[in-house]
Amino acid sequence: MKTIYYGATSINGFIADKKNSLDWLFQFDKGGESSGPESYTTFIKDVRAICMGSTTYEWLLEHQISKGQPWPYDMPAWVFTTRNLPTIPGADIRFAKGDVKPVHKEMQQFAAGKNIWVVGGGELAGQFYDAGLLDEVIWQLAPLTLDGGAPLFPRTAKPPFKLLSVKPIMDVFIEVHYSIEY
Ligand SMILES: NC(=O)c1ccc[n+]([C@@H]2O[C@H](COP(=O)([O-])OP(=O)(O)OC[C@H]3O[C@@H](n4cnc5c(N)ncnc54)[C@H](OP(=O)(O)O)[C@@H]3O)[C@@H](O)[C@H]2O)c1
Repeated sequence: MKTIYYGATSINGFIADKKNSLDWLFQFDKGGESSGPESYTTFIKDVRAICMGSTTYEWLLEHQISKGQPWPYDMPAWVFTTRNLPTIPGADIRFAKGDVKPVHKEMQQFAAGKNIWVVGGGELAGQFYDAGLLDEVIWQLAPLTLDGGAPLFPRTAKPPFKLLSVKPIMDVFIEVHYSIEY
């Protein structure tokens, strides 16, 4: 069982642009997940619980659900928020707030030995890191920079992460995989 922060980033460490848009990322989408089917398919098959911050959830509501697309996940999803947000019929969504530790414990019970995916954003992933609960990060570096936006991981990694692998994806991205050292 691992808790993994998996997602795509600009080279200079932004996961959404200043307008909270992902268009810079989806320009590379060739009909599958933007990070490449071979990466995502392998990753997601071992994931049994996911979590995200409310901005990410609201992005999905606005760009996918309101356009008639289905909720893309079939495992339980915890959405961190201090507000009352709408749910999605048929989707297993649980709202959480505050300390990530008890929520992580609950996610572990559902994951039953499989992995937990921290979808983002970076500050939420940082809260898992602060609590010593983040085991690995897998980031797909898109071949561009952005002039600001949502940060990938606003933390100082000390000690440095341990490199597990590096691989090109779709001749576009570079996927880096690190284990977190504490
Ligand atoms: N490139 C990628 O692979 C990737 C991956 C994920 C997300 N994204 C995008 O990147 C952007 C992420 O935005 P972001 O980093 O600003 O935000 P985020 O993590 O999605 O959401 C941040 C919000 O979540 C709530 N929150 C966070 N921690 C909490 C806690 N412990 N307790 C209660 N509430 C908590 C707070 O909002 P409230 O309390 O006000 O609700 C906070 O403002 C989105 O546009 C998303 O679509 C991209």
